[in-house]
Amino acid sequence: MSGEDTLEPRRRATGRKPRRGDLLEAELTGLDGRGRAVGRAEWTDGREVDVRVRGGVPGARVRVDVFRRKGMRVEARIVEVLRTSPVAVEPRCEHVSTCGGCSFQNIDYAAQLAEKHRILSGLLAPLGDHDVQPVLANGSAFGYRNKMDFTFGNRRWVEEGEPEGAERDFAVGLHVPGRYDKILDIRRCEIAFEAANPILGTVRRLAREHDLDAWDVREHRGLLRHLVLRHGVRSGDILVDLVTTERAHDRIGPFVEELLAAHPEITTLVQRVDSGVALVARGEEEVLFGPGYLRDSIGGIEFRVSAASFFQTNTVQAERLVELVLEDAAVREGMRVFDLYCGSGLFSLALARAGAQVIGFELVEEAVADARENARRARIEGVEFVAGDLARTLAPHAARGEAPELCVVDPPRAGIHPSTLAALRSLAPERIVYVSCNPKSAVRDLILLLADGYAFRRIQPVDLFPHTPHLECVFTLVRRAGPRGPGPEGPGGIASRA
Ligand SMILES: C[S@@+](CC[C@H](N)C(=O)[O-])C[C@H]1O[C@@H](n2cnc3c(N)ncnc32)[C@H](O)[C@@H]1O
Repeated sequence: MSGEDTLEPRRRATGRKPRRGDLLEAELTGLDGRGRAVGRAEWTDGREVDVRVRGGVPGARVRVDVFRRKGMRVEARIVEVLRTSPVAVEPRCEHVSTCGGCSFQNIDYAAQLAEKHRILSGLLAPLGDHDVQPVLANGSAFGYRNKMDFTFGNRRWVEEGEPEGAERDFAVGLHVPGRYDKILDIRRCEIAFEAANPILGTVRRLAREHDLDAWDVREHRGLLRHLVLRHGVRSGDILVDLVTTERAHDRIGPFVEELLAAHPEITTLVQRVDSGVALVARGEEEVLFGPGYLRDSIGGIEFRVSAASFFQTNTVQAERLVELVLEDAAVREGMRVFDLYCGSGLFSLALARAGAQVIGFELVEEAVADARENARRARIEGVEFVAGDLARTLAPHAARGEAPELCVVDPPRAGIHPSTLAALRSLAPERIVYVSCNPKSAVRDLILLLADGYAFRRIQPVDLFPHTPHLECVFTLVRRAGPRGPGPEGPGGIASRA
């Protein structure tokens, strides 16, 4: 602060750019894809500064403290709200100031959707002028996640106002943003399925009572690593997936017994062992209780989902994704379809039931086993699954001339691997339905597909992740008349509006 004890800009020197410690007054105008508010401030020489702040609400005027700068773009912290935004709402979550997961929760839900639409439209702008449908809202914007992946750690994030001497060497919760070693103890997560919160609390209590130590990410020791809680929304099943560094039956056994006794709603519990240093949950599995999988159903088809298998984390919105894929697939009896990145068969089974001949491709063996079993139980024919990395499994199908009329593509956040994209382009299906959880990587892939002569038929964003910056989108592409196969690279051949 200045000598007059006000929050006036600390340094007003002209002829330089803003720097760490400068205070600016910013008008917040929108959000970015990383969960920050974006805004403008006027610099001393009249130039505009592009400001990014966490926790800001579009429409607010704020005083910010700069901590990083690149050119005339700064990252800053809000120190004072000078004018509240009309779309500001009271955040529901007690962890909002530290967690960083639901960075949009202090913004009215309709405004979140409008911002997501604007962000997506901005990302798609280099592809030409295309209609982006309004984002399909999530009916209930809380308690929607059917899967929570919590982490154990022996360095608990100490929150403001905590008494001196509070225990710090155990936490189960979520990583503090930007701190790979610190875990925020989560008492209650507002977007998790309701039953997850009491189970999390019991796991914390029992782990302490049984003296089970949490993973030390720096020293690479400790027993407990991850706690994954999953819910079959339509069946009520609850799967607990406990990831530890060793089996340690003698220590884990009594803990599990007490956990199951306290929570009879848990229908299955698996233990996976992972002694490696990776921060994501994986590892060899042993079923300690129940069948080892949960059941959920979408579009009238029941899915068995094992601990290692992917399943969409928002069951209600996943059903809308399936509806959209079916609508845009325009299935004809016997139509050949490839479902790339098929998981436990979500789209494959719906398409096969509608009459298509489907081949699903998936890396994770357990997911492929689930998909086959799901098809068998639902008595759906005309579908087969290929296990393995698409970078190896797709090209042989392309080489054999088994060209599908439709490809459904639903890759992980990184988008389609270049070699898989090359194989997809040489397959040149009439139609591609690209389901993406990361529009940024999708745009990179779409540029090449549009250059091959595809045009958008529909761009339909779906909100699977309220209060977070994440957005799911279904891009439907149809091949226009002309030679099949890859065209020139780059956005040269992009069609405007399908
Ligand atoms: C976003 S999920 C989509 C799953 C499925 N379409 C669904 O909606 O349930 C992506 C899937 O791609 C799989 N995957 C990731 N990399 C892969 C690869 N290289 N080859 C094949 N499958 C892969 C993952 O295991 C995961 O099941």
